[in-house]
Amino acid sequence: MTTTPHKIRIGVLISGSGTNLQAIIDRCESGEIDGTVVCVISNKASAFGLERARNHGIPALHLDHRLHADRTDYDATLVALLREHGVDLVVLAGFMRIVTPTLLDAFPNRVMNIHPALLPSFPGLDAQRQALEYGVKVSGCTVHFVDSGTDTGPIILQSVVPVREDDTEETLSERIHVEEHKLYPAAIQLFARGRLTVVGRRVRINEE
Ligand code: GRF
Repeated sequence: MTTTPHKIRIGVLISGSGTNLQAIIDRCESGEIDGTVVCVISNKASAFGLERARNHGIPALHLDHRLHADRTDYDATLVALLREHGVDLVVLAGFMRIVTPTLLDAFPNRVMNIHPALLPSFPGLDAQRQALEYGVKVSGCTVHFVDSGTDTGPIILQSVVPVREDDTEETLSERIHVEEHKLYPAAIQLFARGRLTVVGRRVRINEE
């Protein structure tokens, strides 16, 4: 007799195109992630990721930050929505907002983010531009658990890409995006299999 693995319930927060969201949905549907995307929430109504979610029959919600008094108030509503959908893991995928302890305390070590640089280099906005301007020869992407700092949480996985002589922000971003679409699903699957343990700043990846 085969046993069906427990599937985690994933809530994805976005603000834009949602190509990472798409990669995650696809890997859930193919069985490469033992999980299901149960809701997608955007702070922007125009985010194309909402349409991606609807195309897969996933509840797609617009939660307008302008209608909330402050970040804490916004995050309290987010938490309520995520709980309503029974979310186990919160995945930030191009969510252009700083999250507060209200969200983090509700989902301890259960909020992940992807950043388009090799952290701790180039945190914050325009990471690819920062990398080009600094003149590094390699960059990449980082999946990490979110803490209260900006891109400072414990690192789960990283992937390296070369920086080429003729790179622009666009070509470097494209190369990094290709890696993101593999790295984020891989990190989520490690979580789904219960293989991640956070010890201080380090994330231990346990054997199956
Ligand atoms: C990615 O580059 C990710 O690293 C950053 O936001 C971007 C989202 O891209 N956090 P997409 O919307 O998934 O295409």
